Amino acid sequence: MKKRWRVTARVAPLLLLLASCAKNAPQDTLKPKGPVARQIDHLINPVFIVAAVVFVLVQFLAVYSVIKFRHRDDAPEPVQVHGNTRLEIAWAAIPALILFTIAIPTIKTIFDLSRQPKNAVNVTVIGHQFWWEMRYDDYGISTANELHIPTGKYVDITLKGDPTDVIHSFWIPPLAGKQDIIPGRTSHMHFEADEPGIYLGQCTEYCGLSHANMRARAVAHTPEEFDVWVKNQQQAAKAAAAGTPAAEGEALFTAKGCAGCHTIQGVSQGMVGPNLTHLMSRSVFAGAMFDLNAGNLSRWLHDPPGVKPGSKMPNLGLSQDEIAKLVAYLQTLN
Ligand code: CUA
Repeated sequence: MKKRWRVTARVAPLLLLLASCAKNAPQDTLKPKGPVARQIDHLINPVFIVAAVVFVLVQFLAVYSVIKFRHRDDAPEPVQVHGNTRLEIAWAAIPALILFTIAIPTIKTIFDLSRQPKNAVNVTVIGHQFWWEMRYDDYGISTANELHIPTGKYVDITLKGDPTDVIHSFWIPPLAGKQDIIPGRTSHMHFEADEPGIYLGQCTEYCGLSHANMRARAVAHTPEEFDVWVKNQQQAAKAAAAGTPAAEGEALFTAKGCAGCHTIQGVSQGMVGPNLTHLMSRSVFAGAMFDLNAGNLSRWLHDPPGVKPGSKMPNLGLSQDEIAKLVAYLQTLN
């Protein structure tokens, strides 16, 4: 038994260390991909070094004292002392000095990061159980789970908490720190991406059954590509060609009540679920939980709470044929 404990004591820290060595870790906060994340990263390094030096020193002194001054049967009674003014001043002053030194860059970074950027792209992000609404009011468009942004420009994000929802927290680790979304309140954050690409994120405040399935992603485009994306999002949905399964799907969309919850520009104005006008221009759906393809869409429509626990989208009891037609229609929404 004792031996097993000794083995565990040696292996456990090794496993912990190995767990930190993931090669493909897209949500790694220590690999900043933009100026805001980089500024935070620059703060982490010096603070970590100071903390590590203090940790090693304190642990060394503790272990040294435990061994050196341990009880021995034949040892004489140690000298009895009461206080040591010089030592006490030193161990109050040195930590105070260290904390003061760390406070200077920390406070500077906090002030730098809270400055609102100029000429930014404005986006409102609203957290829902369990998906993200992204509204670009300046452009009159709305999307979900994918935050499309241009490179080389700050994105000013207004985080709004739906008063009837719970607390969520928006976090795209390679681009910025996390920020809570509180029901009924508004807060701000901003960031910028250096390079075009997809940056993965996650809701980081426990918010219910599918908290872990409430993912997000920032999709950074070149400024030209971003303009093209905006123009496309501003178009109303094209009506499905008459006589096709997609047209039957479009009729079902209203008949089965989908329209009451989802907006499709030119078709419906529901505000409960994500705006689906340009659904197929996204690569994921349902809180960025599933890749967007026909197979996943039909699995989803078959039983939403079954594949995503706690989903507010109900099981509508659709037949296989109705699902096929609805999926055919959804696939025209690009
Ligand atoms: Cu939303 Cu956790």
